[in-house]
Amino acid sequence: MAKAKTRYVCQACGSVTMRWQGQCPDCAEWNTLVQEAAEVTSIFAAKHNLQGGGRRIELVGLDHPAALPERIVSGVAEFDRAIGGGIVPGSAMLVGGDPGIGKSTLLLQIGAKLASSGRNVVYVSGEESAEQVRLRAIRLGLGKSPVRLAAATSVRDVLTTLDGDSPDLLVIDSIQTMHSDLIEGAPGTVSQVRASAQELVRFAKERGAAVALVGHVTKDGSIAGPRVLEHMVDTVLSFEGERSHQYRILRALKNRFGGTDEIGVFAMETEGLSEVPNPSALFLTRRGEPVSGTSVFPALEGSRPVLVEIQALTVRLASGATPRRAAVGWDSGRLAMILAVLEARCGLSFGTTEVYLNVAGGYRLSDPAADLAVAAALVSALSEKPIPSEAVVLGEIALSGEIRPVAHAPLRLKESAKLGFEQAWVPKEVKAVDGIALAHFGNLRALVDQVLGR
Ligand code: TYD
Ligand code: MG
Repeated sequence: MAKAKTRYVCQACGSVTMRWQGQCPDCAEWNTLVQEAAEVTSIFAAKHNLQGGGRRIELVGLDHPAALPERIVSGVAEFDRAIGGGIVPGSAMLVGGDPGIGKSTLLLQIGAKLASSGRNVVYVSGEESAEQVRLRAIRLGLGKSPVRLAAATSVRDVLTTLDGDSPDLLVIDSIQTMHSDLIEGAPGTVSQVRASAQELVRFAKERGAAVALVGHVTKDGSIAGPRVLEHMVDTVLSFEGERSHQYRILRALKNRFGGTDEIGVFAMETEGLSEVPNPSALFLTRRGEPVSGTSVFPALEGSRPVLVEIQALTVRLASGATPRRAAVGWDSGRLAMILAVLEARCGLSFGTTEVYLNVAGGYRLSDPAADLAVAAALVSALSEKPIPSEAVVLGEIALSGEIRPVAHAPLRLKESAKLGFEQAWVPKEVKAVDGIALAHFGNLRALVDQVLGR
């Protein structure tokens, strides 16, 4: 038998507990448990038996003919690239990002582009009035586009309005402002967000309409509301960048219809977002004089190389205070590892030195192929000997101090040569590439000797 019970749902992670606690036992956030009424059916009830009595399902083989999803190409090439070639009809997308990063602008521009090419686009804003959205569209030069616009926060109103209508794209800005009148609680609570999203995703599947949900991001970078939101949608896109910088990266974190290794790059300008089709030199500032503590690493975003500058600063401490280590754009655990290898295998000492590492331009690196460039910047900072400004550095460092080969070295080197770099410091396995001279390193000690000029 179902009986009404009270349960407590964490507003940060969506986990459920039966009694109130100050701290969520799952995600350790404080004061996030909120009471909800729930129908709870005990799984121990005597009648709970699912073995038999159901409908038989047809099982098919993997080689069963299946049509690839037909995609709607938005015409914003950087967006299409990030989502794997275009919008899949009937799919649900979640577009997350910090406030003010440009989510509304991006979706308005994509909606307008699609509408101008004859697609049926509906844009529902729960955050701004229709007037505000219209003014922005006019400012962006999109005032003539036949996007149908509404300011609404009730999912029931939205779905009633769209009864008998099947838009190619429905934009909901944002899912945290939507509410369902069947659920108690203010908009933005986990149960409201979940229920609203569920209805909208169902609408997408039933009508074959693509639905784009805008989602806010919390302090720690996860999309506010329950993680279940990420499970409910087909594609999770993250719109990233530093607000003080111009560049924005659209990245797929999850994609049921394609890969997650391509990114879209945009620049936020006064006339809205413009596409950056060739981002390889974006994060690079070239100056004449080489500066100690910097190195250049040819990163890869999907199939596209992006050259980034790595900056290190070391400060010697006089007293015995514990020195700080801070990394921006690079994993601090990996920084500690590289420092340890430099100490243990190369005889350098960072024990009384503060170490700061920064990836320039607000870029985030997670590719271990950048290890050697990080090490080069650190050694250069410590010794105050610059890395030649015409060199790029790549290689993964093993705990033994050996330099391991990296993926797609020829692609990275070709792009570096194209941007005017003349030498590359690489693992010994890397083969010659036209237009760039290679210096091979078998282990980290050899690189340290090179930087120190030994
Ligand atoms: P917005 O799309 O409203 O961000 P979000 O929906 O992610 O919160 O964009 C907000 C910022 O973008 C705003 O602070 C100003 C900037 N911006 C421009 O620089 N140029 C423009 O043309 C537009 C529309 C916004
Ligand atoms: Mg917005």
